[in-house]
Amino acid sequence: MRFRMLRFGILISTVFFASAIAGFGQRRNLSEFKNNLAPFVTSPGHAVDKMLNMANLKPGETLYDLGCGDGRILIAAAEKYRVKAVGIEISEHLAKTAVDNVKKHGLEDQVKIVHGDFMQTDLSPADVVTLYLATAANESLRPNLERYLRPNTRVVSYDYPIPGWKPMDASASEGRHGVTHTIYLYQVPNSIVKK
Ligand SMILES: C[S@@+](CC[C@H](N)C(=O)[O-])C[C@H]1O[C@@H](n2cnc3c(N)ncnc32)[C@H](O)[C@@H]1O
Repeated sequence: MRFRMLRFGILISTVFFASAIAGFGQRRNLSEFKNNLAPFVTSPGHAVDKMLNMANLKPGETLYDLGCGDGRILIAAAEKYRVKAVGIEISEHLAKTAVDNVKKHGLEDQVKIVHGDFMQTDLSPADVVTLYLATAANESLRPNLERYLRPNTRVVSYDYPIPGWKPMDASASEGRHGVTHTIYLYQVPNSIVKK
């Protein structure tokens, strides 16, 4: 009898711990889903080149890509402009892919990938911020850009403007299937429209 009760106790504890672990995993996935402000679509290579060119990067500067996907903008920036690059990515799978890609290029000393939410990130070390999100996401992000970014920081956004900000420059870029996309360049504080 005592042995049977012990076995029952062990079974209940195992089920309890297993569901606690599964529940924890599910919550993390739900938060990845809930706070995800843009789907994963990569910037085409020639658009990346143009974005980085418009950002006027100088060696030693720091670039942040908010929602870095597979890390392609960070890798191009580190290789071509010898800058430090930080990518924030909410998807665990994409963040791991970006880490692998950085390793493949031997850029671990220059590029850091953070698995996290860019809305919860201190952006103050950035000299340049790159975005490929959506207009509504840019609008949600704008208070953080205004709070954290230092004067002269450049923000380059592919395809979507930052509502309420005035671009310093806007340049057309040929996208997939012959569709033309716009790349917007902003600079703090000149682009911040005073109310
Ligand atoms: C359109 S993709 C751009 C990928 C990459 N920057 C590029 O240009 O190739 C947008 C990325 O933002 C990520 N993302 C969306 N919301 C996020 C958030 N709150 N924090 C961090 N990453 C986020 C998505 O997972 C996706 O990888």
